[in-house]
Amino acid sequence: NAPHSDALVLFGFTGDLANKKIFPALYAMAKRGELVPRVVGVAGRAQTDEEVHRRVRDSIEKEGGGITDGPAFDKLQQAIRYVGGDYNKPETFEALKTALDGAKRPAHYLAVPPTLFETVIQNLGKAGLAKDARLIVEKPFGRDLASAKELDAVARSVFPEDAIFRIDHYLGKEAIMNLLYFRFANSFLEPLWCRDHVASVQMTMSEDFGVGDRGAFYETAGTLRDVVENHLFQIVALLAMEPPKSRGFADLQAAKADVFKAMRPLKADDMVRGQYDGYRQEKDVAPDSDVETYVALRLFVDTPRWKDVPFYLRAGKKLPNTAVEVQIQFKPPRQALFEDAGGRPNYLRFRLQPTSSIALAARVKDVGKRFVGEQRELYACEDLAGEEAPYDRLLGDAMAGDSSLFTGLEAVEAAWTAVDDILVDHPKVVAYKPGTWGPAEADALIANDGGWQAPNPEEACGGNR
Ligand code: BG6
Repeated sequence: NAPHSDALVLFGFTGDLANKKIFPALYAMAKRGELVPRVVGVAGRAQTDEEVHRRVRDSIEKEGGGITDGPAFDKLQQAIRYVGGDYNKPETFEALKTALDGAKRPAHYLAVPPTLFETVIQNLGKAGLAKDARLIVEKPFGRDLASAKELDAVARSVFPEDAIFRIDHYLGKEAIMNLLYFRFANSFLEPLWCRDHVASVQMTMSEDFGVGDRGAFYETAGTLRDVVENHLFQIVALLAMEPPKSRGFADLQAAKADVFKAMRPLKADDMVRGQYDGYRQEKDVAPDSDVETYVALRLFVDTPRWKDVPFYLRAGKKLPNTAVEVQIQFKPPRQALFEDAGGRPNYLRFRLQPTSSIALAARVKDVGKRFVGEQRELYACEDLAGEEAPYDRLLGDAMAGDSSLFTGLEAVEAAWTAVDDILVDHPKVVAYKPGTWGPAEADALIANDGGWQAPNPEEACGGNR
């Protein structure tokens, strides 16, 4: 059994991620009595204790549903220390050592832009803070294959591989874990789950908000790096992989890496890049920026199971709603007995955000003389009320040394390899209006496979479309 980390160091304490997701996660741990005794926040500028405490309180009130347990909140406040200083300076890391107050096995969590990863990792090493410690790295891991390799080399020159935890928070979501479970816990699925029966697969990740205060980060990333190459590719891997030998880290990584390795390298005409009107006027965004806020892709996984089955992925900001949905489009029946042959064939739909549900669409006859019917969705809905928030779960797992929900080196590099060409060789962004489904060019990409199916997050579970 791996020893538990005895402190958490949060680099990027004043950042968006800490504010939106990490403080609420730490509070949830405190409520369960599972908070580490020491949490050290690190960020660029000096702050008084009062400012630090207010920041944490405001975040939990706004993003974490409010403070419902006073003693747990007090415990969190007491655990927190803060170090303000330049990540390039050894003094910052000396101050961190002092703030750790004798903790021997800290987990260093890099919730900072990827451009700072190497500096922080090197300085942790130089300060002797890597010994018996863990390193938790936030995605994107690098900007492309070359920088991912470089980052890995730096991380592994300071930390052993089994102490490095690469977070893709999608893997900590119940609905995503359910994809793995649903696929391999149900025997009826397996015979259908291949190119003989599946015509295409499509996936939409829509967000109805823009880049907000994250313009500076977004300018270095764009949608492909921000959410497609990681979150959506992880979903592709769960859908497309062969049964792993076990649910353990190594076997899962190997099965996922095989999917990425089998991806046909993407080319410029497999991709549409969009940018919402107004993006160039956002804070910290270049007035002539060519960074995409929308991507649509067509990709192929050339394994015997999936050869020539197109996978369509789209993700974007300022779209009509906020949802993630996957649809597996089955082929039509081989005979055409009925008057309505040619209608949309069966499909399986996974709603992954904001709720979790699975709908299997089957045709059912309408009442009357004619043999016509319609697709009716048979539903299984998940009540997510008891869900542990992804960061709560993942930080807890990392501090306990359980890597099964993290991403391995091989899979990271294989995923970058698949997109490496189109990161540089790609069409210019096409403008789209906020509140629409992105550029029309993206519709053309999928036109031969029935078009995009828009998710409808308002829909009540158990209804029919
Ligand atoms: C993050 C991206 O990884 O995922 C964001 O950086 C995106 O741009 C977010 O909004 C979506 O995740 P969630 O869990 O908030 O839906």
